[in-house]
Amino acid sequence: MINLWDIRYVRLGTPDVEAATRYACDVVGLELGRREGKAAYFRSDDRDHTLVYFEGDPQDHTIGFELRSMEELQAAASALDAAHIEVRAGTADECARRAVGAYVNFRDPNGSSIDLVVRPHHGGTRHWPSHDAGITGFSHIGLCSANPVRDETFWTQTLGAKVSDRIGTAPLLRIDEVHHKIALFPSQRVGVQHINHQVESVDDIMRAWYRLQKAGVRIVFGPGRHPTSGAMFLYFEGPDGMVYEYSSGVRLITPEQEPGYLPRQFPMADSSFCMWGSKPDIAEFKV
Ligand SMILES: [Fe+2]
Repeated sequence: MINLWDIRYVRLGTPDVEAATRYACDVVGLELGRREGKAAYFRSDDRDHTLVYFEGDPQDHTIGFELRSMEELQAAASALDAAHIEVRAGTADECARRAVGAYVNFRDPNGSSIDLVVRPHHGGTRHWPSHDAGITGFSHIGLCSANPVRDETFWTQTLGAKVSDRIGTAPLLRIDEVHHKIALFPSQRVGVQHINHQVESVDDIMRAWYRLQKAGVRIVFGPGRHPTSGAMFLYFEGPDGMVYEYSSGVRLITPEQEPGYLPRQFPMADSSFCMWGSKPDIAEFKV
């Protein structure tokens, strides 16, 4: 069984790296860590980077997960191979560009591109956000899935994730104590459905709600609170139709709760996404 230690980064293609960079800094509030060729690397916490925009196809998304050791990476590659999944090891140049010691890449059953990495670089300098959005770090992604039942089996049985709750057939998956680091939403698209950054408090969410409206950024859901994770949230539109989320107050499922924990089943209803009454303008969240 593969043991995902943490979610590490998202890499997104875009036809306009400059516009995406302005958005990541001026709207989301990330720190521009560096530029390398036609790519920009962004920090959201103490890590080297947690988001990359590179010049390319806006449908080209890769999600990076950290494993604990080289041995675990080798075992993961063997396990994927045994499951008849094509695995490709990153070259030295690709590892350097990702700022990792080593990695392998494969696609999940829906075609999403996944990197498993070891020894990703930490940042030596203090994270200094481009403005005070209250971000405490990159935390989770929504992933598109044409078949959430099939993909839940893969993510739980091959990648070791655990189901925290389900909305309809959509599972919210944890790889540590945090309620979810991955969520699989029914969609005919491939790749990342939304990108979450945690913010410090509800004040940051409400400040963002006013700030983003003033800046003309389209709010697509919220402010609200998820009855699943308990997190308060705000979703807004980013470059190339990507959805970004700020959230705060996510529930933990601790080792003490773990033995008897049973995922809760929520119906596919607006009230399963927001307990305050906000209605999503996000295709994958629509009932
Ligand atoms: Fe989310």
